[in-house]
Amino acid sequence: MSLGLTEHRKDDRQERLAQIREALGPRSIVLIGLMGAGKTAVGRRLANRLELPFIDADTEIEVAAGASVSEIFAEHGESYFRQGERKVIKRLLEGGPQVLATGGGAYMSPETRATIKARGLSVWLKADLKVLLKRVGRRDSRPLLAGGDPEKVMKKLIEERYPVYEVIVGAVIDALAAKLGCTAKADKAQGRKKVK
Ligand code: S3P
Repeated sequence: MSLGLTEHRKDDRQERLAQIREALGPRSIVLIGLMGAGKTAVGRRLANRLELPFIDADTEIEVAAGASVSEIFAEHGESYFRQGERKVIKRLLEGGPQVLATGGGAYMSPETRATIKARGLSVWLKADLKVLLKRVGRRDSRPLLAGGDPEKVMKKLIEERYPVYEVIVGAVIDALAAKLGCTAKADKAQGRKKVK
């Protein structure tokens, strides 16, 4: 059977994803970065492409505590939250391979950094302060939805943002492939340009 060019490319992409999964072994891909950097949005898509489970550490902390992150902070304080965060992330990292999104402060713990180094591969999602502030500010009040028809606004945002998320996911996959030494055949043959 002869395949068209697009099908070849698709095969190459699939092959590279399989190579990444293989090179990863039991390790987890751990997304780190400040609040609003897109760890969850990008993490879900990345996991989907790699056909790995996606786990959000903050959600797991909330499940373990039976309370929201804000409630834990308000009732017990930050150091109690950090203690739980360290424990939960350690437990989660025993369960790779997976894509794990961590809360913005998790990587500040030397113990967590050591566990991530031993059992995972960290990917830092970095965004400009302006972008972060815009995203974080939007979180509670949702001013973008206040004025207009929510369906129309959401559709417009989907159109604008999904392609950006996909580009970032593509860049993360390229970076992982480079780090793990996975290059699909066509990339080698054609010397295709890599996303930096
Ligand atoms: C925190 C970030 C939050 C959450 C908690 C503390 C931080 O997660 O873990 O509110 O210290 O930066 P996100 O980065 O997912 O918002």
